[in-house]
Amino acid sequence: MAIKGRDESQERKGQEMSATLDVRPLAGSLGASVSGINLAEAGQSDVDAVKSLLTERKVLVFPNQNLTPAQHVALGQKFGELEGAHPNLAKPDAPDPHIFELAASEGGIADEWHTDLTFTDSPPLMSILNMVTCPEAGGDTMWTNLIAAYNDLSEPMQEMLEGLTALHDARPHGNRDAMAIHPVVRLHPETREKALYVNEHFTRRIVEMNAFESEALLAFLTRWVQNPRFTARINWSQGMIGMWDNRVTQHFVINDFVGERVIQRVTVLGDHPEGVRAPRFEPWTKRAKLSATSHWDAQLYRFLRDREGKQAAE
Ligand SMILES: [Fe+2]
Repeated sequence: MAIKGRDESQERKGQEMSATLDVRPLAGSLGASVSGINLAEAGQSDVDAVKSLLTERKVLVFPNQNLTPAQHVALGQKFGELEGAHPNLAKPDAPDPHIFELAASEGGIADEWHTDLTFTDSPPLMSILNMVTCPEAGGDTMWTNLIAAYNDLSEPMQEMLEGLTALHDARPHGNRDAMAIHPVVRLHPETREKALYVNEHFTRRIVEMNAFESEALLAFLTRWVQNPRFTARINWSQGMIGMWDNRVTQHFVINDFVGERVIQRVTVLGDHPEGVRAPRFEPWTKRAKLSATSHWDAQLYRFLRDREGKQAAE
């Protein structure tokens, strides 16, 4: 069975599907709009086809699905184990414990580029959004392709980044103590493609560099991933379902809408990001001398000290 709008090899992959997916790319780098499938009744072969397409396009939207909260949760469970509640931003009045509701009237619009929850040891694999109340205009979401962003860097820059790690924290959620260190370049666990894995919202520090080098490099990298050629922009409609691979993308909600915007999210648990190689250098704090600049290193020093303490206790 063919997938409309795709080439011959892609059609062969789709031969065992029970649905005929009509796939329209949303931008050159990533994103596709998909019709020809009722997600409320998706069987295993449909889910496998959507997973394969998601790996390829990284962001998918499905107009006019109008799923109930129970159907939304059931769909998410077909992709993996769901997160029970947001680690920092609990919403007790959500229609299901697995649903995190983002309502514009309560603020917290995610208008800074980020990969979700990179301050945790194992950030989510993917999320699925249900557009419940769509503003008449505005409130689009943008995504950027971190594999394309990595691939377009020069070889010397790629070579340097592959040996580095970065500290992430939940400062934007008011919890600077929630921290994790991840490789600056991570591997997609299925395709083994390399993705640039730092973001302006949660990434604080390149572990192996001094604070000033780190600041300059992060300023460059977090701006680099925002180049429009790596991005796609989704214009929402009522009842639309959107999903993204959180391991190799960042997103940004445009805070330009008037009126209510309510979106519900379920999140599939992910794994610990794997780097291309082990870190090649010691953390900067191992060699830094005490000076007036030491306050820049305090957070990293504290994280590493606590982690060593935990490892020693195990
Ligand atoms: Fe987000």
